[in-house]
Amino acid sequence: MSVAPGTDGVLVDRYGRVARDLRVSLTDKCNLRCTYCMPAEGLPWLAGPEVLTDEEVVRLVRVAVERLGVTEVRFTGGEPLIRPGLLGIVTAVAALEPRPRISLTTNGIGLDRLAPALREAGLDRVNVSLDTLDPARFTTLTRRPRLDAVLAGLAGAAAAGLSPVKINSVLMRGVNEDEAPALLRFAVDHDYQLRIIEQMPLDAQHGWDRHTMVTAEEILTSLRTVFDLSPDPAERGAAPAETWLVDGGPARVGVIASVTRPFCGDCDRTRLTADGQVRACLFATEESDLRAALRAGTDDDELARRWRTAMWGKRAGHGIDDPTFLQPTRPMSAIGG
Ligand code: GTP
Ligand code: 5AD
Ligand code: SF4
Repeated sequence: MSVAPGTDGVLVDRYGRVARDLRVSLTDKCNLRCTYCMPAEGLPWLAGPEVLTDEEVVRLVRVAVERLGVTEVRFTGGEPLIRPGLLGIVTAVAALEPRPRISLTTNGIGLDRLAPALREAGLDRVNVSLDTLDPARFTTLTRRPRLDAVLAGLAGAAAAGLSPVKINSVLMRGVNEDEAPALLRFAVDHDYQLRIIEQMPLDAQHGWDRHTMVTAEEILTSLRTVFDLSPDPAERGAAPAETWLVDGGPARVGVIASVTRPFCGDCDRTRLTADGQVRACLFATEESDLRAALRAGTDDDELARRWRTAMWGKRAGHGIDDPTFLQPTRPMSAIGG
């Protein structure tokens, strides 16, 4: 067991894992309404004053980078591209020392227009969510007819040099479970890196069912009807995605099997919500309120100490298979994935 957190040092937990990767949710709002994420009418959004200001976001990221050893910063949502101050936040984070790597997970809408400025501001790469290539299906799944906008966003990201451009696809039974090979063909043809994701119990409607979930094994079987997949010699590290070479490479495909092949033992992530709460895990049921501390005038040393304490309490794993498992009260869209 590692030593308990003190007044300096990195974000270590009692199992010896060190969090170097910070995921920052910039808003809980979104311009799509994916059925597996939100109801049609949306969710009760955070009120304006609850959301961290741009300056508050940058201050907390600075504390993480300068005092806590964070080297990777990913902006998520909801949909991060709808945050008005995004460019300024990326610019400020890119100016931190040592400069963290900066990435973004987005639904891609508006990315064609924003990609060059984001690149200029210091964004390194993007992951774009896209579950289907069929326009009618896309409209049913996201409740918005925006497939073309997402495809334009992907192309814009690649053109702006935000590479590698990755695509995230969640496969769902009876919805798009047959689309894995078509998504991979599309990704390989456009030089995007596809990752297919097992659905996790994080939907606002609590409709997830372990027994109907499309598993990594099924995903691989489906891909292998069309492609040859061989083990990827590259180190996986703490990445959620396990990767394979497609038809001998260099193209790769990833599978993110949080449920059937959990990777919690190697987790290096810490999370900050749009309202300034630290979450040690995607599935955490507890949060640590850095916003209240920050607004009460707490100094950087003390903010860092509280963040360390929050991470020290990180549990060994998500426990989805435990009979006592409880889905977090915050939905995925307010955690950032
Ligand atoms: P890369 O650095 O590009 O590999 O990104 P990533 O895969 O870590 O992040 P992304 O935002 O693209 O998320 C892809 C999927 O992985 C989403 O479904 C996330 O919810 C999931 N994911 C990310 N981090 C974790 C984690 O710590 N635990 C679990 N179970 N899933 C995660
Ligand atoms: N399980 C797994 N992945 C999910 N995402 C959204 N909801 C879920 C879920 N329940 C994905 C999105 C996006 C990323 C942030 O998480 O498709 O790519
Ligand atoms: Fe928006 Fe992402 Fe949720 Fe879809 S999955 S509604 S794109 S936050």
